[in-house]
Amino acid sequence: MKVLYVCTELYPLLKTGGLADVGAALPAALQAEGCEVRVLLPAFAAIAAGVRIEGDAMALPAMGGPEVARAPHPAPKILSGRVRATGQAVYLLDAPTLYQRPGGPYLDASGRDWPDNAERFALLGWAAARIGLGADPRWQPDVLHAHDWHAGLAPVYLQLLAGAGPRPGSVFTIHNLAYQGIFPRDALAPLGLPESLFTIDGYEYHGHLSFMKAGLQFADALTTVSPRYAQEITTPEQGCGLDGVLRQRAEQLSGILNGVDYTVWNPARDPLIGTPYDIDRMAGKAAAKQALQGLLGLELRPDALVFGAVSRLSEQKGFHLVPAVLDDLVARGGQLVVLGSGDAGIEAALREAANRHPGQAVLRVGYDEALAHRIIAGSDVLLVPSRFEPCGLTQLYALRYGTLPLVHGVGGLADTVVDSMPETLEHGSASGFVFHAFHTEALRQALHRAFALHQRPARWAGVQGHGMQLRFDWQVAAKAYCALYQRITATPGAACASVEPGPRQSF
Ligand code: ADP
Ligand code: GLC
Repeated sequence: MKVLYVCTELYPLLKTGGLADVGAALPAALQAEGCEVRVLLPAFAAIAAGVRIEGDAMALPAMGGPEVARAPHPAPKILSGRVRATGQAVYLLDAPTLYQRPGGPYLDASGRDWPDNAERFALLGWAAARIGLGADPRWQPDVLHAHDWHAGLAPVYLQLLAGAGPRPGSVFTIHNLAYQGIFPRDALAPLGLPESLFTIDGYEYHGHLSFMKAGLQFADALTTVSPRYAQEITTPEQGCGLDGVLRQRAEQLSGILNGVDYTVWNPARDPLIGTPYDIDRMAGKAAAKQALQGLLGLELRPDALVFGAVSRLSEQKGFHLVPAVLDDLVARGGQLVVLGSGDAGIEAALREAANRHPGQAVLRVGYDEALAHRIIAGSDVLLVPSRFEPCGLTQLYALRYGTLPLVHGVGGLADTVVDSMPETLEHGSASGFVFHAFHTEALRQALHRAFALHQRPARWAGVQGHGMQLRFDWQVAAKAYCALYQRITATPGAACASVEPGPRQSF
């Protein structure tokens, strides 16, 4: 099975969140299951720098696609190569005027969307479709697997370009439904997208073009990154306005839980923490805690219950709840370490709260891979109070490091953390703390329960040991994706919206 994996981030070359971790680990796991995977990415400078180019560039045909594939931009090219660090085979979409610029992949240096994002990511979907239909004479995929809104137009371009001819199957994976890629209607023509599909059953969304909705409507199969989130997004509360589409396509939607790359996240072999440790030699965990306290200027108290967090500080992640519980947390002898960046208001509130407790609470603003490992190793509890969470990876890393996750019981957090309650403690299934109502008081109660459990060291160690033994292997996810690829290649186009005019459905 040949799979073209289409995404925008790849750890360790370019990462803004979990999408990059998945982009690095899932293709390798699919390969171990017998798939042949190539990853298509925009040739952002950071990506290009980590790839060894092999062979000649392939020109993409100029006609019939987004206007950006024509003048005034130099014709985009496809470069083949391999990620230097891992050997993963990749295609780079080389269009320097679109992808080679300072700032982030989606936002400029001042945090605003790049004004030409519609063109930048339409070209990605279009190039994916071109490769799907044979742009590389030496390699043609059986499946095109597109990730998040940036690749959302790939399934529709695939159908438009294939017409009545054969085409690969398509899978669209939602990593986060909250980011949808919505653009004004007048983007259609420059992107080569027909008005005829600008309908409720196509890519129209409240009078705008939605890349996310295009992916949801035109892919053969839809997945998201946990079973619970797959259910949640079919409800008006969590559906971000697309729950109707998702209910309509419920039979094609499944949740496949992400995994962990245990070659990167393993306390027994983590070069970024001082003393390695594991379930049978936990001294290194105490050392990691002391090292973290020292590194961040916290009071060196072995008995302090250290709460850590490594997160984007967006509305999604729930950190606006944290300042209100900090006084209580510190009064009970706890300490807080937060590494993250994002929303200026959330950063300011956390900073102000931390400043009230010098030596007991600290906020580090920024992105720091090494510090992320040190926090996950050196904390006792990892806070993940997300309002919603498609999967979440840090709670999975925390489990492996003997750091008890304290989470809001939604999405992948609900699927992966078992609350410490009398029954689950008795049964040995408890792995952390879960709160259900999304407000400060519920978070506070969960913190109190963490302090209470910490007073009972044997029980704490039991929960910790259980969490460290749990495994969220990519192999499990890869097997599920392979089964899905088999299904859709047997009957491509059986259940998705078609670019042929069809009966209008309502929902
Ligand atoms: P999301 O993708 O929504 O941000 P995930 O939990 O899936 O959430 O993945 C976040 C990833 O990004 C994890 O690998 C986490 O360690 C990492 N991360 C988040 N913020 C930072 C940061 N400030 N510094 C270093 N790594 C971070
Ligand atoms: C998104 C989600 C996160 C998920 C990640 C990888 O960024 O917010 O929950 O773990 O994608 O799938």
